Amino acid sequence: MTEQQAKPALPIGMKLSPMNPDYQKDPFSLLDEVREEARIVRDDFLGRYIVSRFEDVQQILNDRDLAVDPRKAAEGTFNQMFRQRSSGADREGEPSMLFLDPPDHTRLRSLVSKAFTPRSIEKMRGRIEEIANELLNKVEGQASFDLMTAFCQPYPTIVIAEMLGVDPRDQADFKRWTDDGVAAGFDPFASEEKKQKAETAFRQLRAYLEAAVAERRANPKDDLITALIHAEDEGSFFNDEEVVSMISLLLAAGNVTTTDLLGNGMKNLLGNPDQVQKLRDDPSLLENTVEEMLRFEGPVTFSGRITVDDREIAGCPMHAGQSVTVALGGANYDPRLHKDPHTFDITREDIDHLAFGGGRRYCLGAPLARLEAQTGVRTLLERFPNLRLAQQDLVWKTVPGFRGLERLIVEV
Ligand code: HEM
Repeated sequence: MTEQQAKPALPIGMKLSPMNPDYQKDPFSLLDEVREEARIVRDDFLGRYIVSRFEDVQQILNDRDLAVDPRKAAEGTFNQMFRQRSSGADREGEPSMLFLDPPDHTRLRSLVSKAFTPRSIEKMRGRIEEIANELLNKVEGQASFDLMTAFCQPYPTIVIAEMLGVDPRDQADFKRWTDDGVAAGFDPFASEEKKQKAETAFRQLRAYLEAAVAERRANPKDDLITALIHAEDEGSFFNDEEVVSMISLLLAAGNVTTTDLLGNGMKNLLGNPDQVQKLRDDPSLLENTVEEMLRFEGPVTFSGRITVDDREIAGCPMHAGQSVTVALGGANYDPRLHKDPHTFDITREDIDHLAFGGGRRYCLGAPLARLEAQTGVRTLLERFPNLRLAQQDLVWKTVPGFRGLERLIVEV
């Protein structure tokens, strides 16, 4: 066998996506192959470079000379390919902060940080615990249930909807609108049906939020929508379009991700009964458990940046307008940093992970996600002393870049 034949093809392109059943089963082994191949790997099919070593990924996330606005991406690149649906560039209204660079990003991030503060999150602590318990009351007495539909899905939606101040009766609509939007928005190969659903969801959500903003302008309340309207930074305020866009972002960013952190995290915790016992024996391990859940199988597997000048990235020279995909999930398994990365270990010391991204775009919702996850895990274990996984074939969602379960059947 020649050397060329002996080397199996690298799992890139669609092979490095949830469309590939092997990736669905175990993305981290495929990400290992890509990470160990080289510091940077070219993926021609998807028009991008992939970087997955921890140190390189961290450096890229912290690099203030890289952009995210897809309008800066060159023809045929990954970011340009999925520009239209994801950035809202083909729709009326403001693109979300997620796809804007300074100075727009700086201004919007600074304004939202005035309203969505650690204090506003801390104020929710007691209520978050109540919401968790209320949801679990509904499955009390059942021998088994689907943790995703009973708990992981509704829980963060109810929390963020209550923070925003939307009517609890409208929460099912909220969940549907954001799920449909994310399912197509982050999938460059979404079917026509998916795209149509996302467009309808986008229009309905927008109309709903425009009405809510107009209502708060007339009758301010003690909620996040009102706080966003009044947020001020050096004489600058959000306009109505921007408030609507920011609320949509908080809803979408907060729903799917926290749901999947809890789903993946509980699957891994319950799948390792010795770890469950350790946590039951020593509840002070709770915070570390959630960090290990984020490292081991975080809900966001990839993020990305765009070059805006000729430069070197991870040792590779490139021109302006190139897409650089950072494999957060690959970096979190980098053996240069983590000992036995494929072992789920809640006692792991100094867990350093990139599940929330980094730099000036570091996840704004990280404190809320951590609080929700810690409260969720604790409440589940307290309410069900014998909680365990049922025998099942796991079914994974197929949204590229994200990692989450369709359902997770547990027994009590
Ligand atoms: C476990 C849950 C979560 C994970 C794993 C997660 C992950 C991420 C990641 C990877 C980024 C991109 C960072 C980058 O590219 O450098 C991000 C950005 C963001 N996240 Fe989260 N997120 C979570 C929960 C939330 C929640 C609960 C909210 C709000 C309610 C939220 C709001 C945001 C926002 C607004 C941004 C954009 C920040 C910016 O562009 O400046 N996230 N998140």
